[in-house]
Amino acid sequence: MRMGILTGGGDCPGLNAVIRAVVRHGMKEHNGEVVGFLEGWRGPMQNMVMPLTLKSTDGLIQRGGTILRTSRIDPFTLDRGPELIVESMKKNNLDGLIVVGGQETCSVALRMYQEHKLNVVCIPKTIDNDLSATDFTFGFDTAVNIVSDALDRLHTTAESHNRVLVCEVMGRHAGWIACYGGIAGGADFILVPEKEIALHDITEAIKKRHARGKDHSIIVVAEGAKLEGDSGTHGAEEIDPENPPRLGGIGDRLAKLVETETGFETRAMVLGHIQRGGSPTAYDRVLATRFGVAAVDLVTEKKFGRMVALQHNQIVDVSLEEATGVMKTLDMELYKVASVFFG
Ligand code: F6P
Repeated sequence: MRMGILTGGGDCPGLNAVIRAVVRHGMKEHNGEVVGFLEGWRGPMQNMVMPLTLKSTDGLIQRGGTILRTSRIDPFTLDRGPELIVESMKKNNLDGLIVVGGQETCSVALRMYQEHKLNVVCIPKTIDNDLSATDFTFGFDTAVNIVSDALDRLHTTAESHNRVLVCEVMGRHAGWIACYGGIAGGADFILVPEKEIALHDITEAIKKRHARGKDHSIIVVAEGAKLEGDSGTHGAEEIDPENPPRLGGIGDRLAKLVETETGFETRAMVLGHIQRGGSPTAYDRVLATRFGVAAVDLVTEKKFGRMVALQHNQIVDVSLEEATGVMKTLDMELYKVASVFFG
């Protein structure tokens, strides 16, 4: 049994833990061989391969990033992209390919499975936690812990200076990080892409809080959030066609508006890629390891076109259609819980 593995999309903590688990389980339990394709789908298209061994994947569980590197390249937008992938699979004599990715990378995997009969199994990763059919993706827990830690730190400095601090976090289409991180870090208001909120509601909540003697406040805003009725909320710069438009600016804009409306000194900070870097939490290491082992089992059972998933703390497998059909946006019941603490 020979299998390949690639990591695609934005990186996240736990990718190396998956690679380690796939190699360990594939080699030890299934007497298999594993090769890694470099830089997402670019690897199989350009046949950029590296052998993976027990030795080369030793000590990887705590390491952030991905030793295979990553990209968001979409083979379906390139001349003969899918055909080159099929040729590379043959050239390397591979029985199956494990694809570790989010919505976009897994959607490409689905098309490769349907249209080119690629023997593919996916593993869900993304700090955004917005992939359907799995309760959690790995990387999310680490990002939430980073946000929560940042908010703890922001609280003490906000309190010392009687300031309102706005913390912009990742979350292009889904507010999972903002909501979980905000609850854990005691945010006084949270804005998510799923719900447009009027500036007035935010400033009233902050004023109410200050009126009852609190001289500082913390607002968490997801990068994809919008203010109700505000057309110029934030920029979405398209820099290169391979990557999605760069978001950013809502935190800064909100801080200025809040300061003008309330008269309280308000500053913004952007957590940015700090949320994606560094070591995974223990939870993410365990989840990534469970996913990696389960994916190898699917390949050896020839159950292709599937994604491993976490449901009720059990590892299951689901169809790629189910996983990629609709984006998993924030559970608004959770937002309701968060809003108990607004103002
Ligand atoms: O991986 C998902 C994500 O972290 C989004 O939350 C964010 O909008 C995007 O990636 C940023 O990607 P990049 O680092 O390519 O700008």
